[in-house]
Amino acid sequence: MASSKSKAKGKSSGDAAPKAQDAVALLKADHRQVAEWFEEFEKARDDDRKQTLATKICSALKVHAQIEEEIFYPAFLEATEDKDMHHEAEIEHAGAKNLIAQIEASSPDDDYFDSKVKVLSEMIKHHVKEEEQPDGMFAEARKSEMDLDALGEQMAQRKSELEDTDPEDDAPAGRGRADGRERAPTGRQR
Ligand SMILES: [Fe+2]
Ligand SMILES: [Fe+2]
Repeated sequence: MASSKSKAKGKSSGDAAPKAQDAVALLKADHRQVAEWFEEFEKARDDDRKQTLATKICSALKVHAQIEEEIFYPAFLEATEDKDMHHEAEIEHAGAKNLIAQIEASSPDDDYFDSKVKVLSEMIKHHVKEEEQPDGMFAEARKSEMDLDALGEQMAQRKSELEDTDPEDDAPAGRGRADGRERAPTGRQR
């Protein structure tokens, strides 16, 4: 559907984007955001709040995983040839995506809902550690020849495309969201 028009090939057009993040900074910011939502989920008491947070967490993680898999991971593999690290990260994504799908198909009425979110948060915590630790993927990426600025730009663009077109967001009700949808602000403007 969303025919990706022209992929930004690191062609920086000189328009001074106020706070362009490099690839690692962008991905780390996503990690922090989701960690915050997981913490809020743990404290949440009522089901509407839990549903809202779970929806935000799942959407954000899907977009995050996709930009890593489409853009960052292939560039990482090419630059470092570290197959083990690359493949392990992909396998961890697959595990997380499975659980995300279960959470999305479920709701706070489900006895297992909280446990699913809890286990997802633990999987993500582990995975984030693998990416961010001192000898982890991001550190290797920084030492490599990867063009992290260009990749950051490319990922930011892809991220906003995905946030605009996430089909889940347009799914009709039926999942018992109380007060319509609450999305993370994407700062999208035309
Ligand atoms: Fe990540
Ligand atoms: Fe990842």
